[in-house]
Amino acid sequence: MSRLLALTFVALAVARCAALTVSAAALSLGSPLGSGTFGCVRWGELDGELVVVKTAKVAEQRAATYLDTEAYINAHLQGAAPDHLAPYLGSCTVDDEKVLVWRASGEHTLMSAEYADLALLASDLGCSEAELPRVLMSQLLSAVGHVHARGVVHRDLKPENLLVDPSSRTLRLIDFGSACEIGGWFTRRGFQADRGPCSVLYCAPEQLVCQEAPYAFDVYSCAIVWLRTLVPGLRESEEALFNWRLAVRDRVVSARRHGAHAIDEWRAAALAGEGEAEVPAGWGQLFDGTEEAAHAWELLRKLLAHEPTERAGAAEALQSEFVNPACTAPPLAPAAARPWSLEALQRAPPEECHLVEAEEEGEAAGRRLSIELPLPPGIRLAAAEETWWEAAGGAGEAEAGEEGAAERRRGLVVAEVVAGGPAERSGSVRVGDLLLAIGEADTQHMAPEEATALLAHWRQPMVRMRMLRTLAPAVGRESSAPAR
Ligand SMILES: Nc1ncnc2c1ncn2[C@@H]1O[C@H](COP(=O)(O)OP(=O)(O)O)[C@@H](O)[C@H]1O
Ligand SMILES: [Mg+2]
Repeated sequence: MSRLLALTFVALAVARCAALTVSAAALSLGSPLGSGTFGCVRWGELDGELVVVKTAKVAEQRAATYLDTEAYINAHLQGAAPDHLAPYLGSCTVDDEKVLVWRASGEHTLMSAEYADLALLASDLGCSEAELPRVLMSQLLSAVGHVHARGVVHRDLKPENLLVDPSSRTLRLIDFGSACEIGGWFTRRGFQADRGPCSVLYCAPEQLVCQEAPYAFDVYSCAIVWLRTLVPGLRESEEALFNWRLAVRDRVVSARRHGAHAIDEWRAAALAGEGEAEVPAGWGQLFDGTEEAAHAWELLRKLLAHEPTERAGAAEALQSEFVNPACTAPPLAPAAARPWSLEALQRAPPEECHLVEAEEEGEAAGRRLSIELPLPPGIRLAAAEETWWEAAGGAGEAEAGEEGAAERRRGLVVAEVVAGGPAERSGSVRVGDLLLAIGEADTQHMAPEEATALLAHWRQPMVRMRMLRTLAPAVGRESSAPAR
């Protein structure tokens, strides 16, 4: 039986990666569209449909190998992210040359001259110019996050490899010739431990994909692509970006000495007008002192951590305060763990939303929190009373179910946070928070005793709870007196 299962599994895995073919007879080639280091890209038509066709540059020695990798990875990524990848149709041979074919899905990349006009880029991505920094980051991380969830590291993230598709209003990641498959069961296609970076301008400081944190390579590049797109002084030339990267790199050693972050050190030096550290033109408009800009910086620091193991993953970054301020984005599956690894066995469910810490009172109203605490968590639960709902205002009403007013007024609230307990120490739970779930169990229709009993009999040492932060009631905001 288990052998049969294993065979089915292998068959499924092979089927997914099997080469897709298109009919060479139905394909006609058109005018050139773009050209990179290894590929020639042209428009084409397949059965009357507009397509994009890529062949390997004959003069480039490794181009054919990269095209094979690209065909394999595109087939492997089928269905992974319909809005964030060019729709791959398959390959065929024309005049003894291998060609790969995609359905047309956009004409310009992020690096196209016209997108120096950020208003146009915003419009093509379906947002306002003010929303562009957040939307662009979200798009970059989504594209990369979906690819990572399928176990693939792109390795060559740069604006030229990100297509803007105005019809779906999304970024589409292209050019998987340098990609490697990390999560494969039997092969690690494209992976060479000693293979250098494709583009020094965007590559992470480790330069070689780190075995311990392979996906972190792309995450670093996402942050650089984001800056290059949005800061005119970095966009203006490759040299400007290169000089900025050198300036940040030069801060790494001193930052380490102070236990600080290289990018913080660079910013402090640049703002103080020290040495070589100049603020690129347009930097101030992006980091303009608003709360959103502070959240953007906070995320950028996590994506640009020098050590790959310290960088945030794409799925995690998508839940950050900057990208997901209203906590409405559904969690994305984390990057695929290496099969057979301990990590794969211990995989935790993806985070829903990052905790809000050290916020002003009431500021986070309407926010969903996901928190993991050791047991017992040190909270007392009570039924949400009429007065609580009145004090809680609208934030909870909209979230607590659709079954009518009476039903909506049910639920459990945190009535007390025990002083010195895990909940208080976490700094993340407040009196007045509405409890939505304990683990997978929905608590909205539980009596306080039932939920308390569930916590008392919890089998694992840690418990994950989901809460909704509302406009807290006027009473009982403080933690309880010590020792109960
Ligand atoms: N699916 C596509 N749709 C539109 N343009 C594309 C597509 N694929 C590639 N291009 C254009 O062709 C250029 C080179 O293609 P790419 O796949 O990046 O090749 P290389 O491996 O040589 O960098 C891209 O930068 C882009 O301008
Ligand atoms: Mg390219």
